[in-house]
Amino acid sequence: MSAAASETAVPRATAASTDGRVRTVLGIETSCDETAAAVVVDGRTVVSSVVSSQVELHAEYGGVVPELAGRAHLELLTAVVGRALAEAGLGPGPAGARPQAVAATVGPGLVGSLLVGVSEAKALALAWDVPFVGVNHLEGHLFAGLLEHPGLEWPVAVLLVSGGHTMVVSMEGPGRYRLLGATLDDAAGEAFDKVARFLGLGYPGGPAIEAAARGGDPEAFDFPRAMLEEGLDLSFSGLKTAVVRAVRARPDAADEDVAASFQQAVVDVLVTKVRRGAQAVGARAMCLAGGVAANGPLRAAFEQAAAELGIPSYLPTRAMCTDNAAMVAAAGWWQLGALGPTALDAGADPDLRLPLLA
Ligand code: KG4
Ligand code: ZN
Repeated sequence: MSAAASETAVPRATAASTDGRVRTVLGIETSCDETAAAVVVDGRTVVSSVVSSQVELHAEYGGVVPELAGRAHLELLTAVVGRALAEAGLGPGPAGARPQAVAATVGPGLVGSLLVGVSEAKALALAWDVPFVGVNHLEGHLFAGLLEHPGLEWPVAVLLVSGGHTMVVSMEGPGRYRLLGATLDDAAGEAFDKVARFLGLGYPGGPAIEAAARGGDPEAFDFPRAMLEEGLDLSFSGLKTAVVRAVRARPDAADEDVAASFQQAVVDVLVTKVRRGAQAVGARAMCLAGGVAANGPLRAAFEQAAAELGIPSYLPTRAMCTDNAAMVAAAGWWQLGALGPTALDAGADPDLRLPLLA
């Protein structure tokens, strides 16, 4: 088990709420290759957050193997949940203080992996006689920014960039989303992963490209920036093809230069689009979300764009950018209060979409 992102200087979870409102939520996240559990109080205070990464398991295959991921979640989840509860001062036994609700990611993601977390969450909710809340993984990523930066002014232009999704969203409040633009083909994280695999830099590709790029020249190659001049949609498949073609044409080119030039092209496009989206809706702030939001050059360029627009930028910590269960608990807490619990016979949906305003 790795990377326990626990916060220590926060109050322990309290099972008792004086006015009957749910305060303490256990979140569970198993949509892809992180097995995670967290306890969050009042949708805001992260009392414990445990993330067990399967990166090493999948590394030798160069990507996530769904069957292995599902089995690993099954093996790891009970211990991860136990640790998140223990670190929050909650107990699994009959005498222990318990969370007042259990939230789990129900989609989008790998169906076999999702089902492990959803089944565990429902079982715990039943055993503890507390509500179950099914959370949309993308909404979880949107909540990651809010969790660390309460008191945002709406609308917030969010750049959501993960392994499976790339979108610019205008967030008008919790649960109020307008899609401004999205990728027409590959997700940004997918492009990082594919280019890293092509260069033989390993998995996951994002951190590998970022590390290689540190020693490279971002102007060594003039890679295409698709659809840069107008609109809010994005496309990365041409960039990936351009990288392959360039490396075949110059086989002696340094990986560092290819990585740096590729990364620069992705960052340029992402930041141009979110900036344009922010201007289009008169955003009061800009927020980054999703695994790719851990990327240093993207964070720097994003902050600069917001500063140029004269609005604040909110960047989740790196641990909160990549998949974790604190964001699921936070989204679940809000959802429970606003929309109520999820039926226990509701299933997982691998293709679940972000709910959008009409
Ligand atoms: O949000 P996430 O943890 O899982 C999904 O929901 O997809 O995002 C994972 C993606 C992967 O494609 C990974 O390569 C990318 O985020 N990523 C990064 C970095 N760290 C993770 N991409 C660029 N730079 C990084 N430092
Ligand atoms: Zn994710």
